[in-house]
Amino acid sequence: MKRACVIGWPVEHSRSPLIHRYWLKHYGIDGAYEKEAVGPEDLASFLGSLDARGYAGANVTLPHKEAALRLAAVADEAARAIGAANTLWLDQAGRLCAGNTDAYGFITNLEAEAPDWNKGRRPVMVLGAGGAARAILHGLLGEGASSILIANRTRGRAEDLAEAFGPAVGVTDWADRDRALAGSGLLVNATSLGMTGKEPLTTDLAALPADAVVADIVYSPLETKLLAAARARGNRTVDGLGMLLHQAAPGFERWFGVRPDVTPELRAQVAASLGAG
Ligand code: ATR
Repeated sequence: MKRACVIGWPVEHSRSPLIHRYWLKHYGIDGAYEKEAVGPEDLASFLGSLDARGYAGANVTLPHKEAALRLAAVADEAARAIGAANTLWLDQAGRLCAGNTDAYGFITNLEAEAPDWNKGRRPVMVLGAGGAARAILHGLLGEGASSILIANRTRGRAEDLAEAFGPAVGVTDWADRDRALAGSGLLVNATSLGMTGKEPLTTDLAALPADAVVADIVYSPLETKLLAAARARGNRTVDGLGMLLHQAAPGFERWFGVRPDVTPELRAQVAASLGAG
């Protein structure tokens, strides 16, 4: 029996078991997917004993994504560019390999929901400068985004990102985020604002073109206030659940040998677990 797990601290909230167990059942695979609560001080020894614990690989969530990359023997191009890993596997020599599928998940979902998001190659506005924003920048630039403007509460973090990603990426003040939406083709919320239990994201969309796409990485609630406001004024919206589902697929294929589909049924099951029926 093949086994994989999600490693986090805490890990209780993770939706990864629901997604991978759905696929295991759907494809009739003799496998298991577990939750592993591993504290930061235990991560290195846990990853060193993945094989002994019977795991073919793992997903990694907060706060371990950067440490997992450092501990891996081999890293794919996305993990190196993003500076964090979310998917681990053992190669034939038993070496720990690290990948990052967050950019892939974001872009695959965006292409599925709004295939013309880059029509006219208009500027993209990204709110946030944490790990999620980094993955999204990597994905957008890889897909030909011509220019990206970052607004982040802590301007220095946005400047660090812009420097890391080169001249196509610029920075605007958090206070100027609404005005800076003029002419944008895509707005992405890559902050944790709007998530259940966090502060709301206050953004006035008045300057955003009517045909722009608005995407949110927050998936709980499924329809954030940002997405509701965008929908109300006629903008197309892309929620965070699709990114979560698509980022899971490459890991499943690595561990269990089948490239799984993100189906409406899977989406409905995970949405139901979020209380969104
Ligand atoms: P992740 O790796 O998931 O992106 P993170 O690194 O903690 O998480 O980043 C969270 C993002 O949400 C950051 O852009 C953060 O802004 P700061 O860099 O200024 O911390 C943003 N964020 C969190 N709470 C915020 C708030 N109350 N107002 C504005 N931005 C906030």
